[in-house]
Amino acid sequence: MKFSTFALLIFLLIAAACKHDPDLTAIPDDPQPPVPTAGCDPDTVYFVNTVLPLLQSSCAMSGCHDAATARDGVILTDYNRIMITGDVKPGNASDSKIYEVLSDDGDDRMPPPPAAPLSAEQKALLAKWINQGALNNACTDTNCDTLNVTFSATVMPIIEANCMGCHSGAAPNGGIRLTNYTEVETIASTGQLIGSITHASGYAAMPPSGQLSDCQISQLKKWIANGKPNN
Ligand code: HEC
Repeated sequence: MKFSTFALLIFLLIAAACKHDPDLTAIPDDPQPPVPTAGCDPDTVYFVNTVLPLLQSSCAMSGCHDAATARDGVILTDYNRIMITGDVKPGNASDSKIYEVLSDDGDDRMPPPPAAPLSAEQKALLAKWINQGALNNACTDTNCDTLNVTFSATVMPIIEANCMGCHSGAAPNGGIRLTNYTEVETIASTGQLIGSITHASGYAAMPPSGQLSDCQISQLKKWIANGKPNN
């Protein structure tokens, strides 16, 4: 067992012992980020590639589960805090608070109404990651497909997983909604889409928590170069 894993385990035990009063300031920052494996296994759900962007864009925004707000003592900004304050039980999604709340009825559901619930596909990804051991893992896509880029199969899934949590609802961040073709096409036309995801000067860097992968950026550029088809 790696030392970092051991340290986290000890911490989880301590956190479990005083579960009703977790000392949020005592949670250690993540150790070294995981070394990405070359090539992504299609049957594996990776924390860094899929789970973290989803939680950061759907839950960790300001006013909710970022470090400054820590609503209900839950902070979903990084691996250690997600494991501890989200009460993640590796191998057991249905017993993990972070997963249970996605399907609660009424006002207890997360994200709370009027925000839209996570999609069935997003819930399934989170469950699969937990059931695969809730590892702090990452991969680099070694065969990035920039040939078969479509709006529905390539562009919108990237936006849903990385942007939509903040850019939807009644009061979207920056006044920008990104929930359908027309809205995405609009910021692509103004240059804001590529400006923000490539961290070009003069644009706010998006997503705020870290850059999209090189592959995702190439795919979005390719879609624009193709004339932004609604396909
Ligand atoms: C955690 C919340 C959050 C996520 C996730 C997020 N954004 Fe934003 N976005 C913001 C906020 C806040 C602003 C306003 C920033 C500002 O004006 O300084 C903003 C502004 C923008 C702007 C305007 C930037 C400019 O300078 O004109 C664009 C375009 C944008 N976001 C696109 C995206 C895209 C694309 C993604 C996903 C790849 C994304 N955002 C993910 C919160 C978020």
